[in-house]
Amino acid sequence: MSEPLLQVRSIFRNFGALRANDDVSLDVQVGEIVGLIGPNGAGKSTFFNIIAGALAPTRGQILFEGRDVTALVPANRCRLGIARTFQVVRSFDSMSVIDNIVVGSLLRNHDARTARHMACEVLEFVELEARADTPAGDLTSPEKRRLELARALATRPKLLLLDEVMAGLTPTEALRGIALVKRIRETGVAIIMVEHVMEIVMPLVDRIVVLDLGKIIASGSAAEITTDPLVVAAYLGDSIRA
Ligand SMILES: Nc1ncnc2c1ncn2[C@@H]1O[C@H](COP(=O)(O)OP(=O)(O)OP(=O)(O)O)[C@@H](O)[C@H]1O
Ligand SMILES: [Mg+2]
Repeated sequence: MSEPLLQVRSIFRNFGALRANDDVSLDVQVGEIVGLIGPNGAGKSTFFNIIAGALAPTRGQILFEGRDVTALVPANRCRLGIARTFQVVRSFDSMSVIDNIVVGSLLRNHDARTARHMACEVLEFVELEARADTPAGDLTSPEKRRLELARALATRPKLLLLDEVMAGLTPTEALRGIALVKRIRETGVAIIMVEHVMEIVMPLVDRIVVLDLGKIIASGSAAEITTDPLVVAAYLGDSIRA
C-alpha cells in the first residue's frame, strides 16, 4: 500500500486532569472517507483541532504526506492540504458569500483574480451561486453550513475534516448535504467526518472509527461497527434499540 496521506501517531491531549485524547492513532489513505463517531465529550472535536493545528497535543505526532506537521500553525497545515469546518459555524457575517470564499482561496493563491475565479468555481459546486452577493450573516443556517464547506474547499484540500456539518438539518437538507459530500469524495479529497446520525455516516464512509473517553474502541466497516458489543454499549445502544 502507498504511504498514508495522514498518519496520527499516539496522540494524547490533557485538559487538566481530563484526558480528552488518550493514545489515539489513525492512518487515512489518499481519497479515503472515514467516519468518526462516539458519544458527546468523547474527544472528536479535540482530535480535529489537533490534526488541524488549532490545539497542540500533549504528546504524539501528526504526519501529512510523510512530513511531520506537529509544530506547524493551522494556516501552514492548510497550505499543505488540511482543511476543516467548525462544529459551531464561523463566517464573516458582514462580508458577501463570495468574499467569504475568497478568504479561503487566497490562502492558496496570492493573485486576487485567480483566487476569485477559484472561489466562483467552489460557489457553484456548493450551489450557492444565487447567494453570491448576499452578506453571509443573512444566509439560512443550512446555507451557512454550505458556505463553511465552500471556504474549506476553496483552500484546495487533500484532507477535509468535517465536524458535524449535517447537524440540525432537516431530512431534505441532509440529503442535499449527503449528495454534496459524495461530490467532494468524487474529486479524490480524503475526508474524516464527525456525525452523530448513523444513517448519514454509513452510506458515505469507507470505514468507521469509534472514540469513547478519548480512546479508539473500535474501527471497521459500518456492518462491523453496528454489531460490535463494545460500540453498542458505549454509544449505539439507544439508536439501535429504538
Ligand atoms: N478547551 C478545553 N478546555 C477544557 N476541556 C475541554 C476543552 N475542549 C474540550 N474539553 C473537554 O474534552 C472532552 C472532549 O471534548 P470534545 O469537544 O473533543 O468532544 P466531542 O467528542 O467533540 O463531543 P461532542 O459530540 O459533544 O461535540 C470533553 O470532556 C470536553 O469538556
Ligand atoms: Mg465535537
